[in-house]
Amino acid sequence: MTPMKATAIAHPNVALIKYWGRKDEKFRLPANGSISINLSAMTTTTTVEFSKEFKTDEIQINGETITKEADRVIQHLDRIRTLAQSDLNAKVVSKNNFPSSTGLSSSSSGFAALTVAATHALKLNLSEKELSIMARQGSGSACRSIPDGWVKWNDAEISEESYAESLFPVDHWDLVDIVAVVSTKKKDVPTSHGQKLAQTSPFFEARQKAMANKITQIKNHIEERNFSSFGELIEAEALNMHAVMITSIPSLIYWSVGTLELMKQVKKWRTEGIPAFFTINTGQDTHILVEEKNAQMLTQKLSELSYVNNVIKNTISEGSHLIETHLF
Ligand code: PMV
Repeated sequence: MTPMKATAIAHPNVALIKYWGRKDEKFRLPANGSISINLSAMTTTTTVEFSKEFKTDEIQINGETITKEADRVIQHLDRIRTLAQSDLNAKVVSKNNFPSSTGLSSSSSGFAALTVAATHALKLNLSEKELSIMARQGSGSACRSIPDGWVKWNDAEISEESYAESLFPVDHWDLVDIVAVVSTKKKDVPTSHGQKLAQTSPFFEARQKAMANKITQIKNHIEERNFSSFGELIEAEALNMHAVMITSIPSLIYWSVGTLELMKQVKKWRTEGIPAFFTINTGQDTHILVEEKNAQMLTQKLSELSYVNNVIKNTISEGSHLIETHLF
């Protein structure tokens, strides 16, 4: 019998219009739709094997057998086993080529790669839409790491309709997302927990009222490749989401000193004629979006800042896919 083993590669995505707050906890249905891009230079590679030889599930991430986050991974394997009517235990080995838990969305690429590898290993032949729905239940944003390029996650009332799909292909617009790693310190409050607090902010409702319009606007700016309108909108959107986080109960402050310095610096660069805009997720590391023609200069400028440890230059990439080389 051929081994029930597969390996997948996935890229984390960064949302330009973001998902913060859920309307359904069990199925991880977001309060609003969102738009993202997949990031080329950052990857999660995951090998999954199912076998009757394995007495329990074993999960290794970045060289360590995990126990803390293992439940969430096992629950996801259970969803896939239920669909495949399998009761086999699994060995999962996963590695990221970028820092985890610092705001770079390793759970998006993590659950996307796990979904693609595990469903394939169990011989389930899922469509892109079905993979996206499955990945979403592991980590909401993971559904957006399944399709290629510029991605939209639909706002829907039921699980079967809440999936992500490509809005524009990888080569639609050659923007660059430069990640500035300001610290590798792990966040105190995991995103999954933070999401549950969104509704406690007095600004949550106001944010929600504006979301559908923001989605329409960003689609237009992307379609027209209008960088200044695009940049103004994504930066304001990131600050809007963080305003909800900062005012939730208890409050969530994901920024560090370096993050704040960098936000101010990016705004200053704009006054000096350098078109660059930031977006930030749940962590201190910061994404800076620029047009390809300015990427080299921006990378150089970032590397000169004392509070930036490292930069990662991403173009817009394909989604998740299988590869032939296994990790074990
Ligand atoms: O999918 P989660 O639960 O990791 O939440 C993602 C939250 C943000 O990154 C802050 C926003 C987003 O849309 O990706």
